[in-house]
Amino acid sequence: DEAGTLKARPPVVTIMGHVDHGKTSLLDAIRKSKVVTGEAGGITQHIGAYQVDQDGQKITFIDTPGHAAFSQMRARGAKSTDIVILVVAADDGVMPQTKEAIAHAKAAEAPIIVAINKIDKPGADPNRVRTELLSEELVVESMGGDIIDVEVSALNGTNLDKLLEMILLQSEVLELQANPDRTAEGVVIEAQLDRGRGPVATVLVQKGTLKPGDILVAGSEWGRVRAMLDENGEQVKEAGPSKPVEVLGFQGTPAAGDMVAVVENEARAREITDYRQRQIREKASVVASA
Ligand code: GTP
Ligand code: NA
Ligand code: MG
Repeated sequence: DEAGTLKARPPVVTIMGHVDHGKTSLLDAIRKSKVVTGEAGGITQHIGAYQVDQDGQKITFIDTPGHAAFSQMRARGAKSTDIVILVVAADDGVMPQTKEAIAHAKAAEAPIIVAINKIDKPGADPNRVRTELLSEELVVESMGGDIIDVEVSALNGTNLDKLLEMILLQSEVLELQANPDRTAEGVVIEAQLDRGRGPVATVLVQKGTLKPGDILVAGSEWGRVRAMLDENGEQVKEAGPSKPVEVLGFQGTPAAGDMVAVVENEARAREITDYRQRQIREKASVVASA
């Protein structure tokens, strides 16, 4: 019944791979290559999610520290990613967490694009990576399969545009859509208690449009949106589908992977979160008395 109001939305891309293969470096390098020079002194602060513009088309990127949030989201049935970028270091090859990441991507039914990273290193062997991927049933195009791979260096910024183009190509095939004209729903990417600002949650909006003043429930926490900030720390007046924003105004700190929904009023928010907090306490007391 919503079909008539569906509109195209940007792809949500999650970066996954073995520890130290360069996930965060790649995210930072892509962001830096897209940031207008001179802005904020050109300093790249860590941010778990952001959006870039590639030839007038937007792409949302999400980092996965330890896959924890990703696993959580999947366990709760939240489909949080459209495309997985599998980062494999060319000097290290396919490792245990590479295999885990492949399993996560397959379970989430998200297409994989392989970024063979660190090609600047003397020991880099991209073809060894391609051969090792065969054992994981990922066959890249040059070996007769349909998996796209791109050789990159996060350190030198090599082939980042090519990677972005491949993401947009893959995204076109997926025909991603959502209804921006409804109450917002989404998922918490990361959250922490900030000394000055109180609870801060990075929320990926998946449906509808989030606005300041909206009353949100995330897991067992709720809040009224006091402000929304983008990856540059700029205030955002509305966040539609696939937009990640830092949300200020939560009463408590939600958890990564918590599903987010806008509710009609504060009373309803309290009712839902009181119930969920009671459930958590009851579960804890059952465990304690066992
Ligand atoms: P975890 O989040 O801890 O799993 O690591 P990660 O995958 O995010 O890797 P990270 O970006 O922290 O990079 C790990 C190390 O590899 C750092 O010392 C980076 O400087 C280095 N590194 C990342 N990309 C490249 C690259 O393209 N070339 C070289 N030479 N080093 C790189
Ligand atoms: Na690291
Ligand atoms: Mg990292």
